[in-house]
Amino acid sequence: MWRSSISLQRWQLFILVGVAGLCVSADHNKDPFAIRISCGARRNVHTPPTDTLWFRDFGYTGGRLANASKTSYTTPELETLRYFPLSDGPENCYIINRIPRGRHYLVRLFFAIVKDPAVDSEPLFDISIEGTQIYSLQPGWSTVEEQSFVEALVFVTGTSIAICFHSTGHGDPSVLSIEILQVDDNAYSFDPTHGKGTVLRTAKRLTCGTGKPAFDEDYDGDHWGGDRFWLGVKTFDQGSDMAISTESKIIQASVPPNFYPQRLYQSAIVSNDRQPEISFQMEVDPNKNYSIWLHFAEIDPRITKQGQRVFDILFNGDLKFNDVDVIQMAGKQFAALVLNQTIAMTGRTLTVTLRPANGSHAIINAIEVFEVITTEFKTSAEEVTALQSLRSALGLPLRFGWNGDPCVPQQHPWSGVDCQFDSQSSRWVIDGLGLDNQGLRGFLPSDISKLQHLQSINLSENSIHGTIPSALGTLTKLETLDLSYNELNGSIPESLGRLTALQILNLNGNLLSGRVPANLGGRPLHRASFNFTGNAGLCGIPGLLSCGPHLSIAAKVGIALGALFAFVLLLVCMTCWWKRRQNILRAQRIAASREAPYAKARTNFARDVQMTRNQHGQDQSRNATEGGPSLLT
Ligand SMILES: *[C@@H]1O[C@H](CO)[C@@H](O)[C@H](O)[C@H]1NC(C)=O
Ligand SMILES: *[C@@H]1O[C@H](CO)[C@@H](O)[C@H](O)[C@H]1NC(C)=O
Ligand SMILES: *[C@@H]1O[C@H](CO)[C@@H](O)[C@H](O)[C@H]1NC(C)=O
Ligand SMILES: *[C@@H]1O[C@H](CO)[C@@H](O)[C@H](O)[C@H]1NC(C)=O
Ligand SMILES: *[C@@H]1O[C@H](CO)[C@@H](O)[C@H](O)[C@H]1NC(C)=O
Ligand SMILES: *[C@@H]1O[C@H](CO)[C@@H](O)[C@H](O)[C@H]1NC(C)=O
Ligand SMILES: *[C@@H]1O[C@H](CO)[C@@H](O)[C@H](O)[C@H]1NC(C)=O
Repeated sequence: MWRSSISLQRWQLFILVGVAGLCVSADHNKDPFAIRISCGARRNVHTPPTDTLWFRDFGYTGGRLANASKTSYTTPELETLRYFPLSDGPENCYIINRIPRGRHYLVRLFFAIVKDPAVDSEPLFDISIEGTQIYSLQPGWSTVEEQSFVEALVFVTGTSIAICFHSTGHGDPSVLSIEILQVDDNAYSFDPTHGKGTVLRTAKRLTCGTGKPAFDEDYDGDHWGGDRFWLGVKTFDQGSDMAISTESKIIQASVPPNFYPQRLYQSAIVSNDRQPEISFQMEVDPNKNYSIWLHFAEIDPRITKQGQRVFDILFNGDLKFNDVDVIQMAGKQFAALVLNQTIAMTGRTLTVTLRPANGSHAIINAIEVFEVITTEFKTSAEEVTALQSLRSALGLPLRFGWNGDPCVPQQHPWSGVDCQFDSQSSRWVIDGLGLDNQGLRGFLPSDISKLQHLQSINLSENSIHGTIPSALGTLTKLETLDLSYNELNGSIPESLGRLTALQILNLNGNLLSGRVPANLGGRPLHRASFNFTGNAGLCGIPGLLSCGPHLSIAAKVGIALGALFAFVLLLVCMTCWWKRRQNILRAQRIAASREAPYAKARTNFARDVQMTRNQHGQDQSRNATEGGPSLLT
């Protein structure tokens, strides 16, 4: 019932991160934070036996919804799932917001198979939480009881948690349910460095001496225990070991930080004279560290005092706990004892051996084995934002995915993105972009300059249009810039002159125009591998058009102003000349009226000249009579 007390407002799913979280302390008087999501469900679901509430799957748009075929009896009674076809991209994530910040959570995901004869196959894929890959589904998982889910203990530093599914090319990742259950901040602490740098993935969790699997909830466990799943094993089938159980109360079981249900200690496997040693084996990944937790309580009525049962514990043959006497170490009968130890594996088989001392027998109540996974550092948030803006500006197709973190898990970086670890900031940064020949039709945003660690950009053979952003000139580490065979227009920004590391610059096959800046890459152009051919409008270096006089905008404005000035000057001159002529004319008329004979004589002379001209054109007759005197000036 406690699960239904969480209101819907306390969580939401978004594709993007960014909602402030509530701060819930690990106060055991309160219920821990918990959300359960039934993937693909359109309404909230309640499941037996504890009437667990599963929220409907809303606010998330990636992937497809489908009915689920269940793979094991462990799987919760949920009908739907969400799956991610490869055409939607190889990386797909649930990003769950409004998680109390800085807390410790048990995250559990159940998987199922799409109930559709056409899709009905077992997909294999990888799962990451907050950029750390925690699991790869193994072939045959859908037929093994305890492999239909993955469970891990994680610290969440922010207010959201990203759970991503990574395609490996074997079918479409499909997820049935997601549970995020707060546990004690110190849960499963095994060394002083315990904390944010580690994820513990449950590799095995057994309750011994009973054939019945159970969740903590079925065992009436404390909610702060995280509702662990316990697979029941009656015996280890070693011929003589046997199951025992009790109804007696077990003390010191449900205590911080791990809150084990007391029912866990009410059954056990014990050995006998024929085969005093108990050993347990499991397959593990070599070269990884495992944290092993062993649970004991003396529930055998034959053993009542210290010294009656003493055994050593060996991992892979190495003595780890010497002379374990449960009654002595737990303080009494029917009291819980937990021992933990972390080991580095070298082989594929983990063997836990309980080796009794003379005349004694071994007992074991429960076993937990965790894979210790070092959490990944994430990619610089600023660079992630820049890549997202690049994704939309370039119109990256859906098949790229580009969800979750660009660089981690390292097994699944975004395609087209090269990463480098920056030890100074303990962040991953982007040092290469290779999106050549991808049919991109967008433009280059100036936000690309926020990818300050880029050494190489290849966007060749797309249909990218618009201009080359001058902000590219701030990427001072850039060695290769290949924008060839696109539809870029405008001129080459002068700022590219600041790229002193530039060795390859391919701008050929675009629609660029104007003069090639003289100082590209801070070096003489003929010394570098630069290609500008195939741009009809570019000029200024050998092999291209010659630019003619190099005219800047200012120069062009200057010339226009000069021409205007000359025209005005001409106009002024002509006006002056015309006025002067008028003045002279007037003066002549005045003179003629006073000294007519002289003037007439000259006028007649002029008329004679005009008359000869008039033979060539009637029009000039008027000029001949009126304009004649002009010849005198
Ligand atoms: C799931 O099954 C129900 C009937 O049980 C059916 O009505 C529904 O269409 C199915 N959904 C899908 C996505 O196949
Ligand atoms: C695990 O074992 C170490 C010693 O090996 C101990 O210090 C630590 O408290 C144990 N953790 C828990 C949660 O019992
Ligand atoms: C295992 O633990 C040791 C010691 O804590 C550490 O040096 C090593 O890197 C770990 N190995 C892995 C694979 O995590
Ligand atoms: C176990 O028995 C052997 C011989 O029977 C003896 O030598 C040894 O000391 C005994 N060990 C213990 C721990 O009692
Ligand atoms: C960029 O990609 C194109 C197309 O794949 C390739 O031909 C070219 O060599 C690449 N440029 C550089 C500098 O590697
Ligand atoms: C570049 O091409 C676009 C159309 O694709 C046009 O709108 C723009 O004016 C052009 N810019 C230059 C500088 O020619
Ligand atoms: C430069 O680009 C043109 C095509 O635009 C190509 O034919 C030529 O081989 C390139 N030159 C070099 C040196 O790569």
